[in-house]
Amino acid sequence: MIEGQVAVVTGGGQGIGKHAAKSLAEAGVKIVIADLNYDTAKSTASELNKISETVAIRLDVRNESEVRTTFSKVKENFGGIDILINNAGVVPHFRWGIPRWPEISDMPFEFWDKVISTNLYGTFIGTKHAIPQMKERGQGHIINLYGGGDTSPPGALAYMVTKDAIRTFTRYAAEEVRSSKICMLTFSPRFAIATETAPEKAKKTMPRPDILGEAFVLAAEAPMALSGQCLAFENGKLVKEVPAD
Ligand SMILES: NC(=O)c1ccc[n+]([C@@H]2O[C@H](COP(=O)([O-])OP(=O)(O)OC[C@H]3O[C@@H](n4cnc5c(N)ncnc54)[C@H](O)[C@@H]3O)[C@@H](O)[C@H]2O)c1
Repeated sequence: MIEGQVAVVTGGGQGIGKHAAKSLAEAGVKIVIADLNYDTAKSTASELNKISETVAIRLDVRNESEVRTTFSKVKENFGGIDILINNAGVVPHFRWGIPRWPEISDMPFEFWDKVISTNLYGTFIGTKHAIPQMKERGQGHIINLYGGGDTSPPGALAYMVTKDAIRTFTRYAAEEVRSSKICMLTFSPRFAIATETAPEKAKKTMPRPDILGEAFVLAAEAPMALSGQCLAFENGKLVKEVPAD
C-alpha cells in the first residue's frame, strides 16, 4: 500500500527514527534521513540503500529556512513527501541511568529552549512545510512521536511539556487537513527504549527499537478515521488509542 511512497524521517540517523526508516524501507518506501548528526545520517542511509533508495541530509529541525530548503530538495529529487515522521528529539533517557534533568528553579533558559524548540517547534515546522506537498499529492501521513515521563522523581518537565503539546497539536492540526486526506497521528512507542548511545548495561536490559516491529508501517497506512488520535501498536496490531485528554 505504501510501496513507492517517499518518507522523511527526522532524527533518523539512529534510535527509533532509524528503526522507523528501516521498516518503511522494507515496505518499499524511499527514505530521506534528515538528522542534525550528518555522520549517523550518512551511515544509516548507506545501510538502508541496500533495501530501498535512501538519502541523507543534514537538517536542524529547529531552523525553518533549513526545513523549507530541505523539503524543496526532496520534492525536486523524489517528487514530494508522502510520509513525515517527526521523530527528532532531545530525550531524557533517565532509564538508561543518565543524570536527571535540572528542576525548573535550576534550569538554564537555554536548556528549556533547546528541548522545546527541537521537540515541539521542530514538529510544528516540519508539519507546516510537508502539508503543501501532501496537498498536491492528494494524501499524506504525518506521524509525531509521543513519549511518557513520570512526574516523580522530577526531571521530565520540559520533555513532557513538549510531548503533551504534540498530542494537542496533532489533534487540532489533524482537523485542519482532514479534507485534504492528510492523516495526522501521535505515535506512542509505549516502552522506554535503549538506542545506540545508551550505556551497554541499558542496551542489555532494556528493549531496543526493533521491539516496535512494523508499527511505523501500520501508522503510515492508518486510515483517515484514526487521524488526530494518539496510537500505540503491539505485535503488529493497533492496541491502544490513547485518550486525547
Ligand atoms: N527511547 C525512548 O525510550 C522513547 C520512548 C518514547 C518516545 N521516544 C521518542 O522517540 C523519538 C526518538 O527518540 P530516541 O530515543 O530514538 O532518541 P535518540 O536520542 O536515540 O535519537 C535522537 C535523534 O534525533 C536527532 N536530533 C536531535 N536534535 C535534532 C535536531 N535539532 N534536528 C534534527 N535531528 C536532531 C539526533 O541526532 C538523533 O539522531 C523522540 O521524539 C522521543 O521523544 C523515545
